Formats: sequence, C-alpha cells, structure tokens
Amino acid sequence: MTRGTVGRTGYRDISLYSPDRAPCRVDLSDNTNGWGMPPAAADAFSTAASAASTRYPSLYAAALKDALASYVGVSADMVTTGCGSDDVLDSSIRAFAEPGDRIAYPDPTFPMIPIFARMNGLVPVPVPLMSSYDVDVDGMRAANARVIYLCSPNNPTGAALSRRSIEAIVGAARGDQFVIIDEAYAEFAGVTVIDLIQRCDRLLVTRTMSKAFGLAGLRVGYAIGAPSLVAEVEKSRGPYKVNAMAERAAIAALGDGLAWVREHIELTIANRRRLIVELAMRRIRPIESDANFVFFPIARALGLARAMRERGVAVRPFEGLPLVSEGLSASNGAALRISIGPWEQLAEALDAFDEVRAQCE
Ligand SMILES: Cc1ncc(COP(=O)(O)O)c(C=O)c1O
Repeated sequence: MTRGTVGRTGYRDISLYSPDRAPCRVDLSDNTNGWGMPPAAADAFSTAASAASTRYPSLYAAALKDALASYVGVSADMVTTGCGSDDVLDSSIRAFAEPGDRIAYPDPTFPMIPIFARMNGLVPVPVPLMSSYDVDVDGMRAANARVIYLCSPNNPTGAALSRRSIEAIVGAARGDQFVIIDEAYAEFAGVTVIDLIQRCDRLLVTRTMSKAFGLAGLRVGYAIGAPSLVAEVEKSRGPYKVNAMAERAAIAALGDGLAWVREHIELTIANRRRLIVELAMRRIRPIESDANFVFFPIARALGLARAMRERGVAVRPFEGLPLVSEGLSASNGAALRISIGPWEQLAEALDAFDEVRAQCE
C-alpha cells in the first residue's frame, strides 16, 4: 500500500495554535477576566448542568440572541452567536469569501486571522500598522481584498483604531467587499462602531463573552450585522454551536450579572492606569491601551517571559513583529503583553519583571 498525503493540501502549512498555555500561578497571558465570572452566571451554569445536558441546545441560540440584542441595542435578527468569537470569525470568513480570495488585516493583529484565512482557502494579506498604531487606510485599500479584517482595540497593541480610519475603510468598501471589525475588547474602550452597520450592510462587528464577561471557558462569541449578512454567517456556522450551559450562563451574565461585569470593567481600567504609571517609573512606555492589557516593545521579550514564568507569572511575549514604530524598531520587533487583573497579581508581575530584568542587565 502506498502512503498518500493526509488531508487538504492547503492545510500542510497550518500548524496548530500553540501559545504557551502551561498552567501558571499568576496567568496574565491571555486577556481573560482575572476576577472570574459574574456569580449569577456561575449559578445559572450549575443549575443548567444537570437540567440541560441530555438534550440538544437550541439550534441558533435564540434566547441568547435576544439578550445580546438588548445589551448592544439592536434587533435580534442582527445578531449571530458562536462557539467563541473564533467560531464567529471563521464562519464569517467562510461565508463572505471564496477559496482563492484575499483577506487583508493590519499587522500585527489577532494571530488567528491568517490561520482562519488558510483554513478557508483564502490568501492572507498583512498590511503593517502605521507608526501611530492606527490602521493604514491606503494600504488596506491597495490590498484589493474581498474581506478586510480590523481589530479595535487591536490585539496585541491595545490601541483602538481611529474612528476616522475605520469610517474611511467602511465607506470605501466596494460592492463585493466585506469588512469585519473585531471588538473583542470594546468594553474596555467604551467606544464601538456598531452604529456604522446602519450605513453599511456588508459590515460585521464581532464580540466575545471571553473577556469582560469572564466566560472564556464556556466559549461564547457573537456578531452584529445587517439581517441579510447575519443569515449568511449562520448558514456557514451551522446549528448547535453554543452549548446549553454556556447559553444559560451567558444570558445570566447579561441580566443579573451585568452590574458585576460593569464594576470589573471599571476596576480593569483603574488597574490599567496604575500599571502604566508603574511601568513609566521603570522607563517603560506602553502603547496607550484601550483594552484589558498593556503592550510594550522590549528587547529579548521571549527570554524575559520565560524567566518570569519560572517565577510563577505568565505574560505573553512577541518576537518578529513588523518594525512599524520607533519602539518596535529599537526592540527589533520584540514586545511583552500583560493582561490586567487584580492588583495583587499585577504587583507580582512587576516584582518578577524587576527581578528578571536586573538579572539580564
Ligand atoms: C482580538 C480577538 N478576537 C477574538 C478572540 C477570540 O476570543 P474567543 O474565541 O474566546 O471569543 C480573541 C482572543 O484572545 C482576541 O484577542
């Protein structure tokens, strides 16, 4: 028997997503909610665990869509959900583009985008950010892509893209183009571009309950767009993507849990400010952050993060980023990203950082 190749040829260059997820005493590496989840969501989850496990969940999470629609202030037919916003992004890319089409995205941005692009047979077209960390509007237009992905606030830089740039890109979208704006961190910025959907029926705004809502392990993401667009994403997504426990917990988080969520968004913003001050005292200037993390270029980021991990603190290192700014040029494309959580955890991170830096110098 001859040994053939296994799987789609387009998948040969895709490796499994593998950030260092080994458990760590203080984990500030993945921008989840360091305080946990709203107690109302935890209660709803436990109650649902015995009552809802045997039967299939609802096909397209209708009750969750109602709750999300009132949270963001749109009608329920403008909302779709998924198994994390990863699933919503993947399904949208598949719904909007044919294999061989191009998808343009700022570089750096959420690293799953080029992976979802290849999984769906699209050609990834990275467009370097401007030195201000805003999106390069002309570069995006010149990419001539079927799908334009923007992330605001952007991961990993943390800065929101300017409203002017987003409007310019959305306004210039041609009849066969789609724009996806990933607002995974919008709650920490206090701004959204959901209103632009009224002007453009080929704009989809994706959101997640993994960050401000503390439900990363339950995998609940959603998107808002014109009803005609949402219907196409649901075809591509398929039924039963939000499990029954996750749906109940998410609805509770959007109801009785909302006060908890808002309170912890405020705490996150206060601790973000405090961490930036502490870093400035160490002559480190993070990029202005609108998210629940701070990002700063620093040489030898990988080694620093490894040494911090040995001291029980996980942060996210980056190397090989495009040299779009003075800071990233000076660090040769290396940077650290620290998620914002309770202050005791950030204090531990600062202590570990001070120790490993002193050793490197
Ligand atoms: C910008 C951005 N979008 C989407 C996601 C995926 O979130 P989830 O699949 O947990 O909803 C993340 C996760 O870190 C992210 O940073």
